[in-house]
Amino acid sequence: MSSHSQRAKLGVLASGSGSNFEAIAAAIHDGRLNATISVLVCNNPDALAIARAQRLDIPAILINHRDYPSRQAFDQAVAQALQAHKADWIIMAGWMRIVTPTFLNHFPNRVLNIHPSLLPAFKGAHAIEDALRAGVKHTGCTVHYVIPELDAGPIIAQTQVPILEDDDLSALRARIQAAEHALYPHAISLATQGSA
Ligand code: GRF
Repeated sequence: MSSHSQRAKLGVLASGSGSNFEAIAAAIHDGRLNATISVLVCNNPDALAIARAQRLDIPAILINHRDYPSRQAFDQAVAQALQAHKADWIIMAGWMRIVTPTFLNHFPNRVLNIHPSLLPAFKGAHAIEDALRAGVKHTGCTVHYVIPELDAGPIIAQTQVPILEDDDLSALRARIQAAEHALYPHAISLATQGSA
C-alpha cells in the first residue's frame, strides 16, 4: 500500500497512559508505518493519552462510558465518533472496556488489540502479574484481531520478552512495553497491507 489515497486511517482507542498510541504516531512520523491517525477516542477524562494527542496535534474525543446507560449505547457512540472521523482500522491501545458485537459489526475484521503476554497464555487484565507469579522464564506481547471472546482473536504478531530473576512488576512491565512499542506499528502495517 504505497499511494497516499490508500493510506490506512486509524482510529485509536485508549483508556490510560497512551504510550502505545504515541509509539504508533512516532512510527507514522518516521515513515515506518504508512497510515494516518484520524482520531483518538478516550473513555477516561484523566487519561494521559488525551494530553499526548493534544501535543501531537491529533484530534481527541472523550466519550465517558459513565455517561451511557449500557455497554451497547456506549459502543454505538464510540463507533459513530470513529466513523465521523472516517477511521477504517480500529486500534485498541490500552482500551479497558470489553467491546460488544454491536461495535465489532461496524468494523468487520478491522479491530486490533495489543495484550501484554504471549497469548493464549495469561489472558485477562492482570497478564503481567500472572506471568510473574507463574514463574515462567518468558512472557511477551501479542497483537491480535478482536473478536467478542476476550483476548482470543487471530494472532497477527508476537514478541517474546525474558523474565529475569530479580524482576518486579514495574521492571517487567517496562520491558514488555518497550517490546510493544516496536511490535504494534509493525503489526498494524502487516494487517493494513493485507499480510496478516
Ligand atoms: C499495554 O501494556 C497493553 O498491552 C495493555 O495496556 C497497556 C497500555 O499501555 N492492553 P499504554 O496506555 O499504551 O501506555
